[in-house]
Amino acid sequence: MEHSLTRPSEVIRSEALGSDIFRLTIMAPQIADTAQPGQFVMVQAASGQDPLLRRPFSIHQVSGNGTVQILFKVVGRGTRLLAATTKGDFLSVFGPLGKGFTLAKQNKNIAMIGGGMGIAPLLFLGKWILRSGFSGKLIALLGARNSAEINSLQEDFNHLGITTAIATDDGSRGHHGLVTQLMLQHMDPGEEWQVLTCGPYPMMRGVAEICQGMNWPCQVSMETMMACGMGACLGCAISKPNDLHSYQHVCKDGPVFAMSEIVWK
Ligand SMILES: Cc1cc2nc3c(=O)[nH]c(=O)nc-3n(C[C@H](O)[C@H](O)[C@H](O)COP(=O)(O)OP(=O)(O)OC[C@H]3O[C@@H](n4cnc5c(N)ncnc54)[C@H](O)[C@@H]3O)c2cc1C
Ligand code: FES
Repeated sequence: MEHSLTRPSEVIRSEALGSDIFRLTIMAPQIADTAQPGQFVMVQAASGQDPLLRRPFSIHQVSGNGTVQILFKVVGRGTRLLAATTKGDFLSVFGPLGKGFTLAKQNKNIAMIGGGMGIAPLLFLGKWILRSGFSGKLIALLGARNSAEINSLQEDFNHLGITTAIATDDGSRGHHGLVTQLMLQHMDPGEEWQVLTCGPYPMMRGVAEICQGMNWPCQVSMETMMACGMGACLGCAISKPNDLHSYQHVCKDGPVFAMSEIVWK
């Protein structure tokens, strides 16, 4: 039986943003109407039953006309099938799921820090912050493997009027090195910042370390393997700090957590 949040949703557009990075625009008005930045959807990778399990993807953008976008990199079978979907295909999409980002204080500067496909939810987040009447400084520090991976995404942020700084692994665009190194170049320690981050675990651990040192509040969007996305399979359990024998679930309690809620390894 289909869950009430599951919609057979039409693919409106499929774009290749690089050799292995794709953006799908899906008609899903119920999700677009209620989604919060940082939440995710579970997407069936093909219209049949194979592969059976849906795959989790951050909500990349929503529009007033009912579309939802996901941005993804091809890493295995499910994402390869998703990359092959075309306009007019129907996919089963389940969501919005999980807890997204929240703003601690309206007047603190905000740094959104993303790495790789962790950049996906930050565009939605940036739009949401701008629409909220936020009056402080808003910057996006974005890390990628190379220039091809980040070019069009950087343009999307710039179109919103958000200041961006880029770090690439190969130095083909922006700073040659880690996105964490951009933090101290672009975030004045004398100012009050709140940091919202999504990306590979080592990157977020580095971001959290800097934030702890600076006493800046930081929210991190965690990624684990997920089978159900709704708290039923317990496959996404992570330890709670101060009690390693009790667990929280990334799909329900997160994926966004305060950095202090994570046991950093
Ligand atoms: C909350 C959440 C949001 C996500 N948002 C995005 C997004 O916006 N864009 C995007 O490209 N990806 C995102 N992911 C990761 C995405 O779900 C996986 O890349 C996808 O499920 C892989 O499916 P596959 O069938 O192609 O790969 P598989 O064949 O299942 O696996 C291929 C490889 O990827 C690894 N892998 C698979 N799933 C995950 C996972 N959840 N976490 C870590 N490693 C994994 C496997 O260990 C394996 O090495 C998100 C994951 C979570 C939990
Ligand atoms: S993915 Fe099943 S409980 Fe979280």
